Amino acid sequence: MRYCLGMTRVSAPISASARRPPARVDPAAIARTLAPATRWPGSLAEVSERSWRLLAATAEFDAWVIAWPQGGRVSLHDHGPSRGAFAVVHGTLAETMPWRDDTGRLTLRRLDLSVGSLRSLGVGHIHDVTNPGPETAVSLHVYSPPLTAMTHYDIAGGARLQARVVRTARHWKAAAPGASDADRPVLCPTG
Ligand SMILES: [Fe+2]
Repeated sequence: MRYCLGMTRVSAPISASARRPPARVDPAAIARTLAPATRWPGSLAEVSERSWRLLAATAEFDAWVIAWPQGGRVSLHDHGPSRGAFAVVHGTLAETMPWRDDTGRLTLRRLDLSVGSLRSLGVGHIHDVTNPGPETAVSLHVYSPPLTAMTHYDIAGGARLQARVVRTARHWKAAAPGASDADRPVLCPTG
């Protein structure tokens, strides 16, 4: 919640409100609102690798637009303590999620997502996102609270998820929003 005080006198100590925890917001509701107007701010023909732009950053949430060339993907990951949502606004994407089959083996379940699809991600949701192509895809991603950490996973021996690496906000804040994978030493914070 933001307040514009201007020259207005305030009767309550500002420090009291500043100590309040950020209000919880619904990432899916925000994504649903922003998605219809979300466009990639450039030429999709020039997107050769997964690229992203920061659209909004508040105390309650952040929002990113990502362009995915054919074959673009992240890897299995969670979103730390954040809830999230993403919407496909151009092209198609596929979301894969760990899934234990009837034999107990851990495999991947795939969900094909077309324009207008919106996925809500609870805390602890583990997935990967990829563009099966051939068209470059664009998606909108919202996280609340703003994304601060991601853990990446491998499926070990077909039986369990093994944490591979943890990415924290300090990794991706080193580069200006709008960079691409080639510009940053680590993965994009979204997907
Ligand atoms: Fe993700």
